[in-house]
Amino acid sequence: MKLRKCIAILLCITVIIGFCACSKGQTGKNEQQLKWWQNTIVYEAYPSSFKDTDGNGYGDIPGITSELDYLASLGVGAIWITPIFASPMKDNGYDVADYYSINPLYGTMEDVETLIEEADKRNIKIVMDLVFNHTSDESEWFKESSSDRNNDKNDWYIWADAREDGSAPNNWRGIFGGSAWTWCEARQQYYLHTFADFQPDLNWENPDVRNSLFDIANFWIDKGVGGFRVDAVTYIKKPDLMIDGVADGTDGLSGIHNMTANTEGILDFLHEFKEKVQDGTDIFVVGEANGVPNEQLEDWCGENGVFDMIFSFDLVNIQFVNGEYWYKTRDFKLSEFKKIIHVFQQGTDDVWVPLFFENHDQPRSINHFLPDCTDKINGAKALATLLMTLRGTPFIYQGEEIGMTNVNRDTIEEYNDISSHNQYKMALENGLDREEALQCVRDYSRDNARSPMQWDMTANSGFTRGRAWLAVADNYLAVNVGSEDNDPNSVLNWYRQLSELRKEHPALIDGSFNELREDSEELFMYIRENKKEKILVVINFTGKQVDFIPDNPGSTELLISSYGDDSGDILRPYEARCYRQQY
Ligand code: NOJ
Repeated sequence: MKLRKCIAILLCITVIIGFCACSKGQTGKNEQQLKWWQNTIVYEAYPSSFKDTDGNGYGDIPGITSELDYLASLGVGAIWITPIFASPMKDNGYDVADYYSINPLYGTMEDVETLIEEADKRNIKIVMDLVFNHTSDESEWFKESSSDRNNDKNDWYIWADAREDGSAPNNWRGIFGGSAWTWCEARQQYYLHTFADFQPDLNWENPDVRNSLFDIANFWIDKGVGGFRVDAVTYIKKPDLMIDGVADGTDGLSGIHNMTANTEGILDFLHEFKEKVQDGTDIFVVGEANGVPNEQLEDWCGENGVFDMIFSFDLVNIQFVNGEYWYKTRDFKLSEFKKIIHVFQQGTDDVWVPLFFENHDQPRSINHFLPDCTDKINGAKALATLLMTLRGTPFIYQGEEIGMTNVNRDTIEEYNDISSHNQYKMALENGLDREEALQCVRDYSRDNARSPMQWDMTANSGFTRGRAWLAVADNYLAVNVGSEDNDPNSVLNWYRQLSELRKEHPALIDGSFNELREDSEELFMYIRENKKEKILVVINFTGKQVDFIPDNPGSTELLISSYGDDSGDILRPYEARCYRQQY
């Protein structure tokens, strides 16, 4: 009896072990190890322009809370909110005066707590934007540091003496134009600013600075946020020798990006951030890491890296000749666009990537990547298909999901964005006439992304009952959430279908990426495959019909088409389709 019992137990154990081994084999390594942020969709909200509930013309935190159900309908699992901290708002919040308090334009700390709680009920996490390369010049830290050379925060920023002739320590140009150095009368020294003069760079070499920043991050973790986006992070470390760079414009200056981005030693700072902030939590951290080459992705976000993901800018900079100046652009072919995507899809097997075509600094993707004559609805659906079916975590920028477009103002004065004015000036200095310079601004201004969210057909597109801080785009009667909600063929409902498709077909999340017809200048085509299924995605990236028959048509089932029906062997302009293929 005893022996039989032992044999039965042994048999059971063998069966259980066998079952585990078998199911492990079927699901594969990735499927077992997926973290929540790999399996979700992130939505970026630009609070000033999302939804205004108090009529002051600026969007606010309660506005985001009021639309949580809308965001849940898109399958969003995290909302990245650009900075909402106290700020003079000269760079719309990227000039932080106090990281522990909320900008009254947006609401109160209680509003943020409510948002976190309400989002949590819907299984949505809130992701904060940490602006840690610099502060506002109105921050108490800077006020103290700039008051004289003998104070407790004396070296919290980057101070340097003038050259013998009184000029700035070197010829670096800030990203928003002009010298990257500004003179401080009280200290009789210059301070460094990677961006505008009101955004002095913090001195990360000082451990007190680093610890103060880590405390801030931990304060927000304690409040219940689910992650961080870390702003301009590649600039936090400065080279030892702050020497002149080669002049790259008519002003004799040299762009600071080439001099300081991704300076050797930066990862030590970020390992410390990881250890003191992230370790032991399940928050995710995505770095805005302009200037990290693909070969270093593993160091930044591989198994022993510092972040979970980093934004890379190769794709959004595809038109720029040297990545910075709006007046120096070029045309590009579909094969070049595909190649950039291919590299970050395939070249980085152990690294997870964020997928994005838009953010608050970029033009609208339909205008950015597709020819002017493109049918905007089908063009937006084509891009949406890519965003939601490539390998990585999709980041949808507010309004992208309804196909919002660039704003096209008539004069430079109508643009709010600080970098638009600087780029306009540089374009004029470099020989463009006023209309040409204005066209650069129309094409690339950050205002394109920042015009208010188009909610419905009422005044101000339902964004505010007051006077909007930035004018609503002219096309809001045609492009808005209310109308698209009721239209099964809208861009919005296409996003929702894609979001459902991701849930139903996990290969779209954990599967490998294999591109087909890489050289085609018409089709973007790839297979996402895991151990259970194979999903074929094909997108016609032209404004004409293209013949298309999948390989093994007999064992290929059409799951969805962006036109809503099946036109057989012909792909219509910008049509996107997803198929399931049998093994
Ligand atoms: C990058 C942010 O995305 C941008 O909006 C901001 O102006 C700069 N960093 C400076 O913080």
